[in-house]
Amino acid sequence: MTLVGRDLVSVFDLSNGEIEAIFALADEMAQHVRSKLDIAGGKLMATIFYEPSTRTRLSFEAAMLRLGGDVLSCPEVTSTSVAKGETVADTVRIIESYADVIVMRHPLEGSARVAADYASVPVINAGDGAHEHPTQTLLDLYTIRQEKGRIEGVWVALVGDLKHARTAHSLAYGLARFGAKIACVAPQGLELPREITDRIRERYNAVTYEYRSLDEMVADPELVRSRKVADPEEQLELTSNAISLFDALYVTRVQRERFTAAEQFEAARNSYAITADMLSRARPDALVMHPLPRVDELHYDIDADPRAAYFRQAAYGLPIRMALVAAMLGLREIKVRRGADEPERRPAKKTTVDHVTCSNPRCVTTQERYLPALFEPVGATGRKLRCVYCERITKVSQEASA
Ligand code: NCD
Repeated sequence: MTLVGRDLVSVFDLSNGEIEAIFALADEMAQHVRSKLDIAGGKLMATIFYEPSTRTRLSFEAAMLRLGGDVLSCPEVTSTSVAKGETVADTVRIIESYADVIVMRHPLEGSARVAADYASVPVINAGDGAHEHPTQTLLDLYTIRQEKGRIEGVWVALVGDLKHARTAHSLAYGLARFGAKIACVAPQGLELPREITDRIRERYNAVTYEYRSLDEMVADPELVRSRKVADPEEQLELTSNAISLFDALYVTRVQRERFTAAEQFEAARNSYAITADMLSRARPDALVMHPLPRVDELHYDIDADPRAAYFRQAAYGLPIRMALVAAMLGLREIKVRRGADEPERRPAKKTTVDHVTCSNPRCVTTQERYLPALFEPVGATGRKLRCVYCERITKVSQEASA
């Protein structure tokens, strides 16, 4: 099994075995983050970013340079023909003749799939609107593996704006696939989208506990009961303090740029934060994770606490991206263990339905008009359609589905 010639748009484009093999290669790459490995001579990576980025773009570029390759960097698309109205499909068909791999970030959901469909070179999704951010998930899972020794059975609380945070979406899938336990703590209206929790439950039989606030979570006896521990004293301790259930708190900022109403953002912005006081009740070996940038949701006075893992987490992005790029460009082989699962392939059955368009206003198909509204039917009724680009569900009436 090889990653050569494949795209990475969603975490579902990789199997668990392939993810583990990327981790093993990242262990090797970690030796080379301060030197030049020189295996990518003559190869070019184009990074095209339609949204701001610090870590993702710079760590991809650093990864390529450390591998010995070169980079065409486009951090600001307003200086390109995009400002003249060039579409994603055309932009990538131009870049493919200059570069061997394209790393793209774009504000529209599903845009990365469009890029992958049109480009003849591999495309890596560096974040497409509020949809997914699969390489962030690779480094998030790698952080947990490095710092907790395993992912299976680890208890993770996803905290924050889970509706818009693409990092939380990809991570929720990743955690479920590796058998972690997930709790979601999100202010009202910013919960993890139903289609994500449904997909997780249906495919992986994983329950997601859901709370409006950390206080609500801390007071839930049901949550405490569900974590069985061998030591009765530890159980007693948990009963009075559910935050100590968690091996990792994964916090996200309120995604200001995705709100349509300023009042909604204002209502949400200060509704949660991890403080030193809260951390004093967490496990001594817990991790506080965050994809960064933080705004107000992580107090600076926790930075010196060894449990604050977010800067280490960002640093893991470099060996992970070196490993991914090396594997995708065929510079290093990945060794997928025997008997590992297959990646979940793209939908086999794609359909158009007369007069039905994707119901997600942030879907790339609503803005880039050359794209057909393509769906994958979900369930037996034919009334639920998953957009093959943004993956949001559109429900159709009986007549339309007939
Ligand atoms: C995240 C993103 O862009 O989704 N940043 C990142 O890539 N590390 C998180 C965020 O912007 O909140």
